[in-house]
Formats: sequence, C-alpha cells, structure tokens
Amino acid sequence: MNEPLPKAPHSLEATGRGPIRSLLPYLWPTAETEMRLRVVVALACLAAAKVANVVVPLFYKQAIDALTVPAGSLAAQLVVPVGLILAYALARVLALGFGELRDALFAKVAQRAIRKAALSVFRHLHALSLRYHLERQTGGLSRSIERGTRAIETLLRFMLFNILPTLLEIAMVGVILWGLFGGWIAVVTVITVLGYIAYTLAVTEWRTKFRREMNETDNRANARAIDSLLNYETVKYFGNEEHEANRYDQALRSYEKAAVKSQTSLSLLNLGQGVIISVGLVVVMLLAAGGIVNGTMTLGDFVLVNTYLVQLYMPLNFFGFVYREVKQALVDIEKMFDLLRVNREIADTAGALPLAVGGAEVRFDDVAFGYDPRRPILKGISFTVAPGRTVAIVGPSGAGKSTISRLLFRFYDVSGGAIAIDGQDIRSVTQTSLRATIGIVPQDTVLFNDTIYYNIAYGCPDATREEVERAARLAHIHDFVARLPDGYQTMVGERGLKLSGGEKQRVAIARTILKGPAILLFDEATSALDTHTEREIQANLREVSQGRTTLVIAHRLSTVIDADEILVLEDGRIVERGRHQELLALGGSYAAMWTRQQEAAQFHGVLVPQPLAAVLGEGAASAS
Ligand SMILES: Nc1ncnc2c1ncn2[C@@H]1O[C@H](COP(=O)(O)OP(=O)(O)O)[C@@H](O)[C@H]1O
Ligand SMILES: [Mg+2]
Repeated sequence: MNEPLPKAPHSLEATGRGPIRSLLPYLWPTAETEMRLRVVVALACLAAAKVANVVVPLFYKQAIDALTVPAGSLAAQLVVPVGLILAYALARVLALGFGELRDALFAKVAQRAIRKAALSVFRHLHALSLRYHLERQTGGLSRSIERGTRAIETLLRFMLFNILPTLLEIAMVGVILWGLFGGWIAVVTVITVLGYIAYTLAVTEWRTKFRREMNETDNRANARAIDSLLNYETVKYFGNEEHEANRYDQALRSYEKAAVKSQTSLSLLNLGQGVIISVGLVVVMLLAAGGIVNGTMTLGDFVLVNTYLVQLYMPLNFFGFVYREVKQALVDIEKMFDLLRVNREIADTAGALPLAVGGAEVRFDDVAFGYDPRRPILKGISFTVAPGRTVAIVGPSGAGKSTISRLLFRFYDVSGGAIAIDGQDIRSVTQTSLRATIGIVPQDTVLFNDTIYYNIAYGCPDATREEVERAARLAHIHDFVARLPDGYQTMVGERGLKLSGGEKQRVAIARTILKGPAILLFDEATSALDTHTEREIQANLREVSQGRTTLVIAHRLSTVIDADEILVLEDGRIVERGRHQELLALGGSYAAMWTRQQEAAQFHGVLVPQPLAAVLGEGAASAS
C-alpha cells in the first residue's frame, strides 16, 4: 500500500482496474453487514427492474395482435386486450418501482463510501510530511479530493445503474428476439449494439488524452489563480497585476486549446454513433417489413422489434456520455487514491511507545541536517536544555535556527546525530506524544479563518472560557480583544490576515500557553512587537516558562539576556556559547551583535521619544 506508484502513462486497463480495486473495500465493507445487504438487494432490484422492462414490449405486442386479429366472441375481443394492457401497465410500474427501490437502497452505500474515502485521504494528507506539503499546491490537493469524491458518485451511478443494466438488457433482448424470430433480426440488433459500443470505446479511448490535458490545464490555471490571489498584497507592492494576468492567461490559453480539441473530437464521436444506430435501425425495420409481407410476422411483431430497438437505443444514446464520464471518473478516482499511496516520510516505528516525559530534558547530540542532501544546513549541533531551564539560540537570518525547531518537532528527521527528550530518541517514540509535549510559537503564524476565540482555544479545544481568557491575558492580547467591537467573536480573515503581525503573534502565544506543554519553543515569537509590548510580554513569558524546558530563538538580544545558556548559531554551527555576560566579555560575534543592536535602539530612541536606553540598561542589570 505504501509503495510509490510508477508514473507510467495509463492505458484503459491501467486506469480501469486500479481505481475500482481501490474502491471495492469501501463498497463492500466487511465490517458493515447492513451495507453489504443493501448492495445485494440493490443488485437484485436492478435485475428485477430489467426483467420487467424487457417484458413490457411483449405485452404491448400481444395487445396489438389481439386488437388487429379479432378473436371469436365480442367478449373475447375486449377482455383479452384489456387484460394485456393492464399487464403491460403493471410491468411498466414494476420496472419503475424496482429501479427507484434500487436507487434508494444504494444511496446510503454510495454516500458512505464517498465519506470514508474522502476521510481517509484527508487523514493521510495530514500524516504526510511538511516537505510534501511545501512542495504541493494546496489548491491542487483539495481539488483532487473534491474531484475524486464526485467521481466516485459518478462511477457508481453510471456503472451500476446504467452500464450494467444496459448490458443485461441487450443480452435479454437478444435472446428474446432470437427466440421469437430466429436468426437475422437478433443478429443485426446485437451487431449494431456491439458495433456502437466498440466504436464508442475506441474513439473515447483516443480522445481521453484531450480530456486529461483539459483536466491538467484546468488544475494549473486554478492553482495559479489561487497562488496569485493569496499573494494579493505582494502583487500590489510590485505593481505586477499585468504579469499575474499574463501568467493566468497562459494557463487559460492551454485550457482553451485542450477544451476545443476535446469538444471537436466529441462531435466526431457523436456523429459516428448516430450513423451506426441509424443503419442498424433501417436494416432491422426492412427485415421486419419483409416478414410482414411474407406473412411470417404480425403487425405486433413489427411494433415489438421497433420498440425493443428504441428502448435499447435510449440508454445507448446515453452510453457514449456515460462511458466518457466513467472514464473521467476513473482518472479522477485514481488521482485521489494516488494520494493515499504517497509514502509517509516521517512514520512511527513499529511498536513506538509514547514519550515518557519526566523533567523534559532536551538534548541535541551532534545533529546534522539538510533539506536537500546536497546542501547541509546544520553541521553538528550539540546542546542540552536541562529540565525547566531556558536556552536561547541567536544568530543571523538563515543560520538554521528555525530548522532546529522543525527538527525538534520532527517535521523532518535528522540526517546525522540524534535528538532526545529525557533520554528517548524522538524517532523512537510516537509522533502524537512527542508533539503533545512541545508547544511552538512559530516565526510566521498562520491563523484559521475563524474567530479569535476559536484560534486561541485551538491550543486546547476543551478549555473553558476562563482558561482561554487567562491565556489571552498572559499573551497581552486580552485588552486588545476586549476593545474590538465583536470581541472574541471577531473573525481574523484568511490565514489571519486581518490581524497585524504582532496581534497574530500574541494569539499564537496565547494558544501555546493554553496548550500548556512541558517544552516551550519560541521562534522569534515577539519579533513583530514593538520593544515596549515585547518587554511586557517577556515578563509573562518568563512566568509561563517557569518550570518548563524552554528554547527561545531570538532576534532581539535584549530578550535573551537572562537565558541559562545562549548559543550563537552561524552557518549551521554553534560558534559561541555561554551566558550573556560571558559572551559580552568574549568580545566575539555576540558582543558585536549586541553593540549593533544597542546603537540601533538608541538611534530609534531619538526618533521615538521613549526611554529605551534606560529600558535596555535595566534589562542588562537584571541579567547580572
Ligand atoms: N523547506 C525548506 N527547503 C529547503 N531549504 C530550506 C527550507 N526551509 C529553510 N531552508 C533553508 O535553510 C536555511 C536555514 O533556514 P532557517 O532555519 O529557517 O533559518 P533561520 O535561522 O533564519 O531561522 C535557509 O538558508 C533556508 O533557505
Ligand atoms: Mg527562522
């Protein structure tokens, strides 16, 4: 199941068997007797409906014969046709009734299968690695699921309620015609129908590539539109509306081309189908007319043959469309199930136990890592955060600081060395337990397009209102929220874009506080705040991280001066380590950064009349 799929171009066989086999467990769930019972009864109804359907013209024929060839008495002349007409009506009602019963019974099976399949794909997508998601376009993924589920419905509806019944009907009609009139009429009817089907399959097979092209270009156009709209602000910053429109139009143009090809080939298909059916009809009618002239056939027989052909012709006329839809559905279903076959990059080892958390000591032991093996990012990182202590990581942008947090959270596995919590390698424990232990306030916070309350409560969905507000107070967001017209019910907009960077960060801090994990990780969590607010939060964060193992990735050095150890990361290596005062005394990178930032702060202090220098001085004093 977890094998990567070979990316071979699909033939009809390849697209036909894979998706149906993938779908079977959902349609025939071994655990659900009711569903299987429904399938069986629905299939029985299907057969019954078709039998009734085929019987209808027989009563029709006999009624006509009874009317055109008068029997002896007047009573017989009336009774026989009326009885036949009633039987004809009953057969029609039965055909209809069984058909509806079949649909009603099967609806639950189909909907249940769709739900189960969509859910397992969705779960699987969340189980896939961050790397996978960074490389995918989310719009494309959700469309694949949407298309796939819709395709399951299409496939089931057409396959079971159109294709299968039609084939059954063709067989029955063939047998009846053979029985009644022998040879030619049956042979011509069956040949016409089979020729029609063969032609349809062949042409549809040929034009599938146009459909697929259409699908792909449609996907591309959509992904481009979404990506462009997500970057609305960036587009404006650079005045690139025209560029974006061109890119979108490029995708649309390929779609246009593919769609036109698809439509033209469709017309060709329909034309051929019409010709085949017409020729068949003419030949059969001529044969039947000849039969009447010879006296071997009655008028009723002539009508019967005609009725059967028209009755077959109707679903067959539909069959071309059905086949195209089914073909498309198979492609879409396969695409969706392909997602299920994507390997999990990060998987729990067999028999992984939950992480046993004691004091929550975090240890990096000679950790090496690169997103791409050709470009190492971390080159032998070793440090330990003792239980309940705070370690800070500072360094220039791109040094690998956030990478350290992603590794600790096991979004990726290390390529060398090991990361352990309380002596347990994080690769040997379950991901769920590991992630429950760690609370991260990420560098770039993205919020759900819901209320502020929902976003904070996300840290612990069954928290009480009081707990949510307490967390909001600690994160210094409560007063801000209280002043909003809609308070906690304020919607934050897509990805949280209606909040400022600082507000988003504080919501993120609040929800992590609410989660209350043993290990805290702040990745430049207050970088978007002004110095004043940052200092206010800092005090609360200190309180929150009291007794919790804490890793602080910091941008402003003034926020880490009281850390138990400060690591200076440069180009994937720890170049300096120690406490604030020791590092200052060392006079290396850290001291240089410190001086730079202080100068910047003082310069800033000139522009914004704030006793920043005093604030910074006070911070330095508290560290010593
Ligand atoms: N998903 C990724 N794929 C490839 N390279 C990445 C990825 N994420 C980050 N990088 C690269 O890794 C380096 C370190 O990134 P990061 O840890 O985010 O730095 P920072 O110290 O600023 O937090 C950067 O050069 C960045 O370009
Ligand atoms: Mg970073």
